[in-house]
Amino acid sequence: MKPLQHLFGIAQLDPDQIDYLLNMSESFIELSRRPIKKAPTLRGKTVINLFFENSTRTRTSFEIAGKRLSADVINISASTSATKKGETLLDTGQTLAAMQPHVLVIRHSIAGTCEFLAEYLTGTSIVNAGDGAHEHPTQILTDLLTLRGLGGHAGRTMTIVGDISHSRVARSHLIAAKKLGYKVRLVAPKTLLPSQVERYGCEVFYDFDAAIPGSDVLYMLRVQTERLTSNCCFPSIREYHEAYGLNAKRLAKAGNDCLVMHPGPMNRGVEISTDVADGMQSRILDQVEHGVAVRMAVLTALCGGDEA
Ligand code: NCD
Repeated sequence: MKPLQHLFGIAQLDPDQIDYLLNMSESFIELSRRPIKKAPTLRGKTVINLFFENSTRTRTSFEIAGKRLSADVINISASTSATKKGETLLDTGQTLAAMQPHVLVIRHSIAGTCEFLAEYLTGTSIVNAGDGAHEHPTQILTDLLTLRGLGGHAGRTMTIVGDISHSRVARSHLIAAKKLGYKVRLVAPKTLLPSQVERYGCEVFYDFDAAIPGSDVLYMLRVQTERLTSNCCFPSIREYHEAYGLNAKRLAKAGNDCLVMHPGPMNRGVEISTDVADGMQSRILDQVEHGVAVRMAVLTALCGGDEA
């Protein structure tokens, strides 16, 4: 595989690199299920998680991934960092890089943060754990690993429903789908679709029910209220759920083989009903498990642990 120095987005990966990371991730699922969940792969390596936005799954899974591979892992969140005292992002980045970590995992609300810092920081690999509405590469690798359970992603149709305009997950899937040969359908009210959505070259639906037949995966998204500038996007939660929520009746139309996915966090009763979230077709907790394995693979690839 072409060596990885940083992981900014799915856009930079070629299909062979994606396959390589997924194969390595598969072997790490097994390690996480053992009674003793520890391998020496990253002994002596330091990983810093620097999160400027809230996170449960991504931050914890990067931490667990590093620790299971014996790296030293440090977590910093914006609320406890010196950015609260007025330090710039670049100063924070340079300060942490001066402590010689091997990997800096960054989540930030501004698109392009990781590429920006990588221009100034030397000797540290940077991983994008979500930058604004831009990219979220490790989530997409997680989802692709989950789709391997369905026999792979090739030729499948993934229908992504909800707040597309603020979703880095949707954007990264659109990029991945073009590279890897799966189809993406987008479903949302006009107010939650990005402008010029046609340029993504995918099918767009305003009517959820019309998009269901032929879908292999219904991929539900949270409405990112923290990024909304006004309350203009839909009349009420009840109406949103009615038009764009996934409930048992809608899922029945999709058929028994259709999988339900969600990157989390879920808002039950809004984009997804509880019976569907906890039902037989849901792969939401598999996604979480696979998220740890994928982050183990990414850290290993960046630290050169796969060469040993
Ligand atoms: C997503 C994110 O942060 O982009 N969550 C995640 O990383 N698992 C989606 C979201 O916040 O709704």
